Amino acid sequence: MSANPNPAVPIRLKLNAAPVEHLATPRTHLADFVRDHCGMTGTHLGCEHGVCGACTVLVDDEPVRSCITYAVACEGRSVRTIEGYDNDPVMRQLRQAFSDEHALQCGYCTPGMLATSYDIVRRLPHADEARVRKELSGNLCRCTGYVGIVRAILSVLSARRQAGDAELSRNPSTSQSSAVAASANAQPWEGFSIVDSGTAAMPAPAATPRGEEKAAPLESRKGWTQMEGSFQVPFPVDTVWAYMQDPRRLAACLPGAEVSEAQGSNVKGRIVIKFGPISAAFAGAADITFDDSQRVGILRGAGVDSISKSRAKGDVLFRLSAIEGQGSRVDVTLAHSLQGPLAQFSRSGLVQDFVSRMIADFGKNLSSRLSGDQSARPAPAGGFSLLLSVLWQRIKRAVSKSP
Ligand code: FES
Ligand code: FES
Repeated sequence: MSANPNPAVPIRLKLNAAPVEHLATPRTHLADFVRDHCGMTGTHLGCEHGVCGACTVLVDDEPVRSCITYAVACEGRSVRTIEGYDNDPVMRQLRQAFSDEHALQCGYCTPGMLATSYDIVRRLPHADEARVRKELSGNLCRCTGYVGIVRAILSVLSARRQAGDAELSRNPSTSQSSAVAASANAQPWEGFSIVDSGTAAMPAPAATPRGEEKAAPLESRKGWTQMEGSFQVPFPVDTVWAYMQDPRRLAACLPGAEVSEAQGSNVKGRIVIKFGPISAAFAGAADITFDDSQRVGILRGAGVDSISKSRAKGDVLFRLSAIEGQGSRVDVTLAHSLQGPLAQFSRSGLVQDFVSRMIADFGKNLSSRLSGDQSARPAPAGGFSLLLSVLWQRIKRAVSKSP
């Protein structure tokens, strides 16, 4: 008999302030762990892709998607599910406000909505309606709509400000998880990372940046996710290569991207992304180098999302080749790492589909611009139509695979 390649391991954490220990495989996600192993079934599962927010719980006081967080990654941490707020004054106010404002019908999204609302009230005591809606955009409700939910949160914020409680929201002495954070074993949230297997080596081009030292190959890095894609454009490879060497023109083809400064190989700018409930605006800088002899370009950049403060690092390698009588082919390899709240999405297959779609849109815009249409640039990237298009592709794939 062969050995089990995925044996269960003991996982110890604090669940709603009580220590728990259960055996679970390293691939068990936190939602299954709390529901199936600990009997806390108040955490609901909707999409299981990190998109709907139904499974939101707090880990060390930060909201996380428990469907895409490994239980093993929460070893030694403090997890709070909807069952863990019995006498919490903020949660008491939120429950009452949800009831007063008719902020639920079937209640399926409510545990996740309340966890996110709790975080908003404590973290952003002066949030206005626009900010509340933005913060809530990662939680979907399919039957109530959001008017009542937003009103409920705003009423709690207002009541707490009037009572002078707003600034006490983050008082460490009243926080369940801060006690755990102060313990010798607690790790800062910054160190929390989603385990990711996407660490395969990227193709190393024999690239020599113009007149400079050899470009370092795009090496594999722990915690980075890698994706590949390609598109074709009906123009000669030299024409495409010349066009792609101008960072401003390159950015003009990428939905939502903007270059604010370009000096030599250094580029500064930002990219705005909207994808269903996910909304981000990364501002940062990149270094871009080209190898004319191989027709290979490498862009290495880093940026911070002004909304969630998530940090992204990414390398993009693009390689051009001629297609006999049909124009050019552009192969793109993208490696990235995400830290902060948006890291919750980086394991989702939806993100990979999103990037593939971005690359395809980039190819379309490049073709249009090369053919003289300078207006081709849908911005910002994504939006509801892109979400629908990505989901539709997934459904088609699932249907075509089913017997
Ligand atoms: S179940 Fe939808 S985000 Fe986790
Ligand atoms: S109350 Fe039914 S999904 Fe939100």
